Amino acid sequence: PKTHYHQFIVQPKPVKRLCKVHNIITVNGQFPGPTLAVRDGDSLVIKVVNAARYNVSLHWHGIRQLRNPWADGPEFITQCSIKPGGSYTYRFTIEGQEGTLWWHAHSRWLRATVYGALIIYPKLASPHPFVMPKKEFPLLLGEWFDRDPISVLRQALFTGAAPNVSDAYTINGQPGDFYICSKKETMRLAVNSGETILLRIINSALNQELFFSIANHQMTVVAVDAAYTKPFATNVIMIGPGQTTDVLVTANQPPAYYYMAATAYNTAQNAPFDNTTTTAILQYNNLPPQQNPRPILAQLPNFNDTPTATRFTDQLRSPHRVSVPLHIDENLFFTVGLGLNNCTNPNSPRCQGPNGTRFTASINNVSFVFPKSNSIMQAYYQGVPGVFTADFPPFPPLQFDYTGNVSRGLWQPRRGTKAYKLKYGSSVQIVLQDTSIVTPENHPMHLHGYHFYVVGSGFGNFNPRTDPARFNLIDPPVRNTIGTPTGGWVAIRFIADNPGAWLMHCHIDSHLAWGLAMVFLVENGEGEMQSVIPPPPDLPPC
Ligand code: C2O
Repeated sequence: PKTHYHQFIVQPKPVKRLCKVHNIITVNGQFPGPTLAVRDGDSLVIKVVNAARYNVSLHWHGIRQLRNPWADGPEFITQCSIKPGGSYTYRFTIEGQEGTLWWHAHSRWLRATVYGALIIYPKLASPHPFVMPKKEFPLLLGEWFDRDPISVLRQALFTGAAPNVSDAYTINGQPGDFYICSKKETMRLAVNSGETILLRIINSALNQELFFSIANHQMTVVAVDAAYTKPFATNVIMIGPGQTTDVLVTANQPPAYYYMAATAYNTAQNAPFDNTTTTAILQYNNLPPQQNPRPILAQLPNFNDTPTATRFTDQLRSPHRVSVPLHIDENLFFTVGLGLNNCTNPNSPRCQGPNGTRFTASINNVSFVFPKSNSIMQAYYQGVPGVFTADFPPFPPLQFDYTGNVSRGLWQPRRGTKAYKLKYGSSVQIVLQDTSIVTPENHPMHLHGYHFYVVGSGFGNFNPRTDPARFNLIDPPVRNTIGTPTGGWVAIRFIADNPGAWLMHCHIDSHLAWGLAMVFLVENGEGEMQSVIPPPPDLPPC
């Protein structure tokens, strides 16, 4: 195993997109940021130097960080922020993971521009379960804002309204041919006729689930979230923020240029969304001389095509039989969804949500508030009181019909910094139920420090008597981020084998900012965390 040393300087850099120059926050002046490529078993030592004027922290999305929560990165959960002028060195080892992950800022909306790919190859002499092509490309799907993303966030939080939608979707930081002033920079991948390539598709968009397809080419899905899948062919993939999908593509079409394209999957009724399309070009080498180089258009589903999204996710399976926990110690039921807080003065500039309300979001009616003066992990480890409470409810305080429009008064979340304790080694099932309050939406839920089996999903209300009988306990897919189907539910299982404080949240950052989050505390022994490594000396001071 190797140790990889990197220096990540978080710094502003002027870049031009959509005809305008903006100062954005980058790592090492790169946008998207540097790709990390390692092998399973390797270690990473990444010194992050904050040369920007914002507080920052970085998260290695999907890395398990076994017994090592200090390297996980979410601000105020496992560390305090790295202040301007400060630095912190993330040290971690890859233990039994391979495939495509990514890293991103985990501090307010900085991840809009601070992100990159994290590729884990198998150990030397250990093969991929598919024929690994010689050519591979990371494709980072993103969102571009014409304004400073932090100010978009601030405005949304101040007014209580939905945030401005982004001004473009992007592939590897480029909007592509269909946007103004973007044609020259469109991302191009050159292929030879007949060869197969691996695309590592990462949804790093801030607030948007996406459909992706390639003109006239099928994709064979081989992995999601750094876990292999039974290969299957598809014309379109649906990918939520936080998720990754690895596909093989064979250049088996007549030599020409073909668009690779992504656009929104969005079921939120009445919500404004950006219905534009980002493109890159798959271009065959050695076009016949008379061939028109105008790329062939890709077919994409309608923005609200839930059947296509569901058909895709329902095909995901682990390649072999996996050991799903069968006996459940912790049977949790979490409602996830948006809400609206009533305002006493609906004309106030702070009540610009629908009908003079403010947007909010919650899990089990608790709208998560990040601590301000300490991190939950440090407070937990050092026994500092007053930072969080360990009374997160395992069930919603009130059960109701989750399929309809529920009266606003029924569901006004309470604010709190609440965590739920799991006994180390216990087996956990969580059913995530979309409340459909305000609107039915697909919430991509990410659990830090873990991956989990996705054992079942469905539309409407979860039925605890009949639905578990249909769970897939044989070959369910393994993920770290799972879409709660729009107007439906999804069930996951895992063993709580990683002590620490681990954030679970919606990876749509506007929902996270409104409180769609909670924290698991997984402890070893009698309330202590003996097996967690001690905090590193350069952990940023709170
Ligand atoms: Cu990819 Cu909590 O994040």
